[in-house]
Amino acid sequence: MADQRQSVHGFWKGRFAFFLAATGSAVGLGSIWKFPYITGENGGGAFVLVYLLCIAFVGVPVMMAEVLMGRRARQNPVTAVGTLAREAGATTRWAGMGLLGIATSYVILTYYVGVTGWAFAYIFRAGSGAFLGASPEKVSSDFGALLGDWKVLLGWSTLMLAFTGATVMGGVQKGIERAVTVLMPGLLVILLLLVGYSMAEGAFMEGVRFMFAPDFSKLTASGVLVALGHAFFTLSLASGVMVAYGAYVPAETSIFKTAVAVVAADTVVSLLAGLAIFPLVFQYNLEPGAGPSLIFQTLPIAFGAMPYGTFFGTLFFVMLFVAAFGSAISLLEPTVATLVEKFKLTRTRAVVYSVLVAWAISIPSVLSFNAWSGIHPFSGVPGFEDKTIYDTIDYVTANVLLPISGLLIAIFCAWVMKREATCDELGLGDGATYRTWRFLMRYIVPLSILAVFLNLIGVLTF
Ligand code: TRP
Repeated sequence: MADQRQSVHGFWKGRFAFFLAATGSAVGLGSIWKFPYITGENGGGAFVLVYLLCIAFVGVPVMMAEVLMGRRARQNPVTAVGTLAREAGATTRWAGMGLLGIATSYVILTYYVGVTGWAFAYIFRAGSGAFLGASPEKVSSDFGALLGDWKVLLGWSTLMLAFTGATVMGGVQKGIERAVTVLMPGLLVILLLLVGYSMAEGAFMEGVRFMFAPDFSKLTASGVLVALGHAFFTLSLASGVMVAYGAYVPAETSIFKTAVAVVAADTVVSLLAGLAIFPLVFQYNLEPGAGPSLIFQTLPIAFGAMPYGTFFGTLFFVMLFVAAFGSAISLLEPTVATLVEKFKLTRTRAVVYSVLVAWAISIPSVLSFNAWSGIHPFSGVPGFEDKTIYDTIDYVTANVLLPISGLLIAIFCAWVMKREATCDELGLGDGATYRTWRFLMRYIVPLSILAVFLNLIGVLTF
């Protein structure tokens, strides 16, 4: 293993710290907000099964690949890919792949802090008892009122960026590691409380059946593709995050075991989030397929009608915020690490600059929900007719940039990097596990991504 290299940012204190940080990145709005609603939209059980397959056969190998790249180079994602390309005797233009990754995470950050801000706002809204007995119309118009007021939205997202920046400024051990050591166990406790509450007060068995009894007649081809795309998003893959975090992983840590643990933790949280949410939705005959508004408009109706709903509703939004915050930190780190290493900035300066620019870029996203809601920047492009600036950024990052980066990572790790290099860094020996990894990376991962991508841009339809 390439022990001779050292990261200028130091190391995680141990394997468990890396596990917590990577899990903190993975578990976020994707697990608690997006997974339940896409499960709802795609009919439940069969979709969950397909998602689990994607996670196991694409998610795990790609995460291993990213961590191995970061750890072998011990550099920021951009320089790391360049170094590894040189080591493999390939062109250092591959560094562009690293640049694409950090650009993706940085842009995701600019809108991610916005939704994190909604979660934060809802902690206070739920806590003040605003949902108590509220009618669906009231809950919905309250949500509309939040989105309609750009000053309030910008206030929340500014606060979220400031929190994120302050944490990343602390560095790997004193900032990120310290934050996730508090956040992640807290999240687990809250989640278990909420599932317990759902068991006691909700239509629990109906929720379980919805999530786990597969009905393949409800599964569509596009559902399969949504599941694969979500595997990338929820595991924070293809965006430099795991490469950056990988650079701080101690040499003796097993990349395979840790990747499996992180993926398992993210999956357990997603499933538990579903088990916390759907029984409440069914208890009140609400719509499980409500889409993105499931959390902010459907769930508050249930909390407003249930015993102790104010308490558990508040806890729910605390949990959503905690999850989103761990991810926001990880979205900033790759850019900060790159600025520090490439431009020899201090960490503090790198954070201040990148947060200020992210803040400026976040403004059009915030305005997309109100003052600029009529602006559709690519209205001439098919599929983008009604997309606001926020919708466009969301769509392009998740559905275009992530798949392209994912494809490049698979090609780079399995076709460009030398077999000995990846085998050595994974430290698994040249046995069945390594061979399976390489086979998945060479064939299964690129072909599945290609299928998703072509489908999303409309070339391939099922
Ligand atoms: N995984 C996070 C979530 O599920 C979001 C996230 C963090 C992310 N870092 C990322 C998504 C990098 C894509 C790429 O909410």
